[in-house]
Parts: sequence; C-alpha cells; structure tokens
Amino acid sequence: MNRDRQKRAPIYEALEKFRRQRVVPFDVPGHKRGRGNPELVELLGERCVGIDVNSMKPLDNLCHPVSVIKEAEELAADAFGAAHAFLMVGGTTSSVQSMVLTACKPGDKIILPRNVHKSAINALVLCGAVPVYIDPKVDTDLGIPLGMEVEDVRAAIEANPDAVAIFVNNPTYYGICSDLRSLVDLAHAHNMLALVDEAHGTHLYFNPSLPLSGMAAGADMAAVSMHKSGGSLTQSSLLLCGPGVNAGYVSNIINLTQTTSASYLLMSSLDISRRNLAMRGRESFARVIDMAEYARREINAIGDYYAFGSEMINGGSIYDFDVTKLAVNTRGIGLTGIEVYDLLRDEYDIQIEFGDLSNILAYISIGDRIQDIERLVGALADIRRLYSKPRSDLFTAEYITPQVKATPQQAFYSPKESLPLRETAGRICTEFVMCYPPGIPILAPGEVITPEIIDYIEFAKAKGCSMQGPASEDISELNVLV
Ligand SMILES: Cc1ncc(COP(=O)(O)O)c(C=O)c1O
Repeated sequence: MNRDRQKRAPIYEALEKFRRQRVVPFDVPGHKRGRGNPELVELLGERCVGIDVNSMKPLDNLCHPVSVIKEAEELAADAFGAAHAFLMVGGTTSSVQSMVLTACKPGDKIILPRNVHKSAINALVLCGAVPVYIDPKVDTDLGIPLGMEVEDVRAAIEANPDAVAIFVNNPTYYGICSDLRSLVDLAHAHNMLALVDEAHGTHLYFNPSLPLSGMAAGADMAAVSMHKSGGSLTQSSLLLCGPGVNAGYVSNIINLTQTTSASYLLMSSLDISRRNLAMRGRESFARVIDMAEYARREINAIGDYYAFGSEMINGGSIYDFDVTKLAVNTRGIGLTGIEVYDLLRDEYDIQIEFGDLSNILAYISIGDRIQDIERLVGALADIRRLYSKPRSDLFTAEYITPQVKATPQQAFYSPKESLPLRETAGRICTEFVMCYPPGIPILAPGEVITPEIIDYIEFAKAKGCSMQGPASEDISELNVLV
C-alpha cells in the first residue's frame, strides 16, 4: 500500500471544489441543494443536501468511471491489496450478487455453505445457477453454524468437478473463519473461482493479528461491507477483484442492476472511510480488539453466559476466529438470545445487532467507547439476576441438511400455491424463510419443507424472532410448488 497516495480522497476533494464553485443547478436531484425541500435540510443539514448531486463531468460517473471515481477505486484497490475495486452503492447484497453473476451462467454449479446470506441464494434465482451445499457443521451447544471443512469441499469438488466456483463466508456473522487459503488453493487447482463474502470482514484487511482476508488468501473476488466495520454510510460497499478476473466483464455485470444515479453521499463516504482505514485502521482495530476481549472477559465473569472467543479454534470447522465479534450464548440463563435482545432494548435502552435462538451479537466497532461496554456488561449482569429461567424449554440447534428438489430459479418461477404452515410438510418451498438478522435462510426456494423445519419456524416466531421472506406477512402460510 502506498501511504502517500492513500492520503488522497479524490471524490471528497472534487465535491469540496464543486461546493465552492456555487454552480447553478439545472439538473437533478430536484430538491436543488435542498432549496425545494426545507424539511429535508432541517433533517440532514445544508452540507449534506449540498453534496447530494448527480453525476456530472467534474464528478465522474459510477457506471463508467474515468476520473475521480476511477482514482478512488484505484486507491481502494491499493488499500485492500486487490487488482481492481468497485465502489458499490446497493449494499453488500449488490457486491455478493455481482460476484455470483460474474462466476455463474444458467445451469452452472456453485459450491457454497448453506449458512450463506440470502443475497447469495437470491443471486442463484437471478442467474439460474445450481447450488451444491456444504454442511457447515453446527455447534449444537452454542446453536451456531461453523465454517466449511476443507475435506468436505474436496469431496464436493470430486462429486461435482464441473462446478465453476466456491463461495466462502469470511468470517461468519459470529466470527467463524474457514481455512480460506486452502479453500482458495483447492478452487484454483480445479479451475474454479474463489468468491469470498466479507460482509463481516472489512477490518481483516487492516490489522495483521486478525484472520486472513480474501485478497491476501489469493481469492478472485471479495464482497466487503465497508458500511459495517469500515465506518462508511449504510448501503455503501466494495467489490474487490484479484488479478485473474476480467474487470471489464465485472463492470458489465454490475451495470445490469446498478442505479444510474449513484449517491455521492455514499461514494464520498467510501472514499473517506478507505482513507481513514488506510491511515489509521491498524490502531483503530487494535482498540476494537482490546474492547471486545475486555467485554468477553467481563461477561464470562458474570457467570452462566458464554461469550465465546478464540479458544474455540479447532483447526477445521473453526479454523480461525475474528475476535472483534462479541457473540454471547444466553442458554445458561434459560433465555433465548432474542429474549435477551428484547430485554436489553426495552428495559436498558441498549440496541444490539441481533439475538437468535441461543445467542446475542453485540457489534463492537471503531465508534465504541469503553463506558458503553461497561453499560452492556452491567445490563447483562442485571438480566441474569432478574430474569433467569430454568433452561428446559430451549431449542437445540441441529444442522438440517436441505433437500434441494429444484434450483432456486426453477422454484421461484414455477406455479405455486399458498398453504397454512402446518400443511406444508413434504412440499417444496418456493420462497425464503429466515430470521433477520442474521438473514441466513431456514428455507430457500426449491427445498423440501420438513416437520422439523416447521417446528423450528414456529418456535422462532413464538420467541419473537423478526422473520422475513414469505409473501405471508405473519408467516402463517408458505408458498409451495403445485
Ligand atoms: C454475510 C452477509 N453477506 C451479505 C450481506 C448483505 O449486506 P447488505 O445488507 O449491505 O446488503 C449481509 C448483511 O448482513 C451479510 O450478513
């Protein structure tokens, strides 16, 4: 990384220059620097609406960058050790989908763990690729899916030598990493692309004590959520490419679905955040690591909670662990994670990232302060004292091997009927069912609905998980193939 060059932020600099010029706007957006919408100015401030502008010559165009956006992308590539970087304004969903659509044509096979984010399976609906799922193994005590074992991926490759890509989460929402380097090498040895979902891994690029990043492992593409640990505005993301990828083709793929009116708020936030990470990322993430480790020690000292960390590393399904992730297993106090999530919010005014059936996840980042960590620890101690229950009625998470009977695309586009949830056992689902976050599908289009899946959905609903996917708002019905 060239530290001198990294001091630049070309989009931000161009916007500043543009602001000083006081150009008269006869172009969109129609609020005209906020003058047409005073309430918006009241909400966002003059500076913000003043740079909410459209593409124009001095500001370049995200659909075909030739000047300041191109330079910002080059700087991002340099900062992340990539051959090419694309600024993305449709969330990491758009980065994940662009990776999959670049790798796969209709009918192509892609090897992926079943605990992928819905954006990956949605990409299969879009392009008609066929999933070959790897059982990610589940820690049944913690109720979390783990990483892919290299031997399982090798077996999948032997059974499916015609697959075109391997897709890896690095890390998972809970911080679990697979042996990324071996998986990338395995993919390349079989002429397959290695695609990495790094929605939860931006920081891996900026502190050497953290697990290996996608680009450092030699992956072909990586989808990086700058808006998560990178500090940029919500919805901004990066798509990174290695040297073996045709960036021109990737650009064509991105432009299939990308807006022609990319937000300069999002793009300048990517530019500034990249500069910030390049200049100060190492120290910032050292602080984040210290805070997360401190929180883990304090929470484990309360008793009955288990804030898991790098002691879980086992050389296989937990090859490495991202210690910035603060997940806490709550089964020891007889409450589901979602119940603890609700208590933290309703009784203690603490908003955490999510609660699932066995865990909560508190997101620790460059914006946190130690006094806030103390508040979280104090609230968890209080919850244990006041709300603990016998642990008898908790659900034990098992990996339910999906029975895939149709590709996601076939199922999505075939004739369907809606049935009450309890009557769908044995039928093939045509939509997603998931708790969000984390957004990992319980069911994806094309999979058989089993009685145990129905039990799981009903339990999650009863415990107050925020569920998404089906057309039926309260998930009382599911669409199935006729
Ligand atoms: C693993 C994973 N991939 C992709 C995404 C999509 O990111 P975004 O919400 O920015 O579209 C998420 C979102 O949480 C995620 O958890």
